[in-house]
Amino acid sequence: MAIRNIREIGEEVLTKKCKAVVEMTPRIKELIEDMLDTMYEANGVGLAAPQVGILKRIVVIDVNGDDPHIFINPRIVESSGEQFGPEACLSVPGKSGQVRRPNYVKVAALDVNMTEFELEATELFARAVCHELDHLDGKLYVDKVEGELQDTSCEEETEEQ
Ligand code: NI
Repeated sequence: MAIRNIREIGEEVLTKKCKAVVEMTPRIKELIEDMLDTMYEANGVGLAAPQVGILKRIVVIDVNGDDPHIFINPRIVESSGEQFGPEACLSVPGKSGQVRRPNYVKVAALDVNMTEFELEATELFARAVCHELDHLDGKLYVDKVEGELQDTSCEEETEEQ
């Protein structure tokens, strides 16, 4: 297990389109373990591989703190509804902003055994899925904020992803 360095806004790696994973390797397994460790260490609810400098289509999400989900080559196959609320990102420390997202998404992805699965997510989980998948295409939530990007105060906690 290892904590990796989280890349921050302004670094080019966060603006690139990531490549699909074609086979599972010990290196990629280690990367996924490290991504989980790094996300928990940073108290985040999600983390995408480019946030640790790796341009691969891998995302980890855990909105409860005890329910890790790993998505390899994820894609949203269905979405509906709408939610509008605060969003923050481990790669944009100290900031948050209001972002509109679907309230429901169905994701298709591969698991660590490279077996395809589908998963339905709502509310914060759906928001995290959308946010993390954007990272895989080099997009940051700051470009989707409606209104101003805010400085986060210590009292007000927004889930970072
Ligand atoms: Ni993020």
